[in-house]
Amino acid sequence: MKEDEVALLKARIAELEHRVKISQQTLRQYALIKRKHKEALDFLNSQKRFTASIIESSSHAVIAINHQKRVVLFNGAAERIFGYTKKEMLNKDTLHLIIPPKYYKDHVRAVDHFLKTGESIGIIGGRVELEGQRRDGTLFPVRIGFGVGENNGKRVIIANIEDITKERRQSQMMQQHNKLAAMGEMIGAIAHQWRQPLNTLATAVQNLELDYAEGLLCDEQYVKEFIQKNKQIIKFMSKTIDDFRSFVRIDTEKESFDVMEATQDVVNMLSAQLNHHGIKVSVRGESFLFKGYRSEFQQVIMNLLSNAKDALLQADVVEPTVTVTISKGKIEVCDNGGGIDESVLPRIFEPYFTTKKEQGTGLGLYMSKMFIEEHMGGTLEALNRGDNACFVIHLRVKDKVHV
Ligand SMILES: Nc1ncnc2c1ncn2[C@@H]1O[C@H](COP(=O)(O)OP(=O)(O)OP(=O)(O)O)[C@@H](O)[C@H]1O
Ligand SMILES: [Mg+2]
Repeated sequence: MKEDEVALLKARIAELEHRVKISQQTLRQYALIKRKHKEALDFLNSQKRFTASIIESSSHAVIAINHQKRVVLFNGAAERIFGYTKKEMLNKDTLHLIIPPKYYKDHVRAVDHFLKTGESIGIIGGRVELEGQRRDGTLFPVRIGFGVGENNGKRVIIANIEDITKERRQSQMMQQHNKLAAMGEMIGAIAHQWRQPLNTLATAVQNLELDYAEGLLCDEQYVKEFIQKNKQIIKFMSKTIDDFRSFVRIDTEKESFDVMEATQDVVNMLSAQLNHHGIKVSVRGESFLFKGYRSEFQQVIMNLLSNAKDALLQADVVEPTVTVTISKGKIEVCDNGGGIDESVLPRIFEPYFTTKKEQGTGLGLYMSKMFIEEHMGGTLEALNRGDNACFVIHLRVKDKVHV
């Protein structure tokens, strides 16, 4: 072989070796990419399984619908809560089975609007309390959180639904408990309220015999006065009972009521008892009309007055006073019993929080806050003003000031 041929061959071999090297490198890179791809896929799948197991093990029902309004997710809790199986619900437009008819129209409107425009009507990202419908047709209270997600590039709407039947029942129980306590207090107040007029009536009746003996019963004027005076007493006693009945009643419908009148009725019922303890109560300011649950509002006033009375009896102040000041949309109940201990102030609205040992249930302020804030959309706050403990209720009113 010639020298130049040898050189050429060597050059070829070198080139081939170089190519082999590059191919080997490419192969190695390819294998690496393949491995990374598999790892990524495995990771994605494990994430998917992880998410699915979170959703499946959740105690809340998790339901999602796609852009065609078909149910694409219906977890185990949803099956338990609503009584339908995944098989019955999935891949079909089946939400009408679990949404009560009264909400269904609004639901369709909100979903259509969102799917078309991407705009929420305010519930996505938020939480609402509504009702759900079980397979047997019964309705139950639910708290729903809405969110949005994507499935294969298309929008899905996700609902996270909590069955709050137990929570509601517990809250109703607490409500009843507090109502009973307030009624007990009221009955005590009525006993006080009646003691004096009953004594007067009893004395008047006892004196009838004497009056007869003295021939007074033939005196028309005397008899008229006798009747008039005692009728007045009976009227007062019967008013106490009427006020009490309106207080005991459980309101089912909101009504427009005069806030000062409703407050005054409670104060009247308690006045004899408060007087007995030397406590002065004054209701002042300008009244307004509010649409809400009258007896729940009265229960709040009752709780605040009862707390003020307890504080005043404990504080032993010279001139124990409770002042209720009313102005449009605002009711303030203040007492000069020394104020609320700063160390307990942050906790007084917690359920069962009391500093009165066995004497208190600790539900008074918790229920009051719930009535005002959740049932009437207002606020109830506590603050100290010097030696005075003040409770401030704010109510949203649209009405004109009513005098
Ligand atoms: N006017 C007030 N002055 C001082 N402390 C108060 C006043 N009102 C409430 N508190 C404090 O707040 C606590 C909670 O009040 P809340 O009405 O919820 O329960 P309670 O009065 O202890 O029990 P219940 O209302 O069932 O009799 C009271 O125990 C008391 O320590
Ligand atoms: Mg109380």
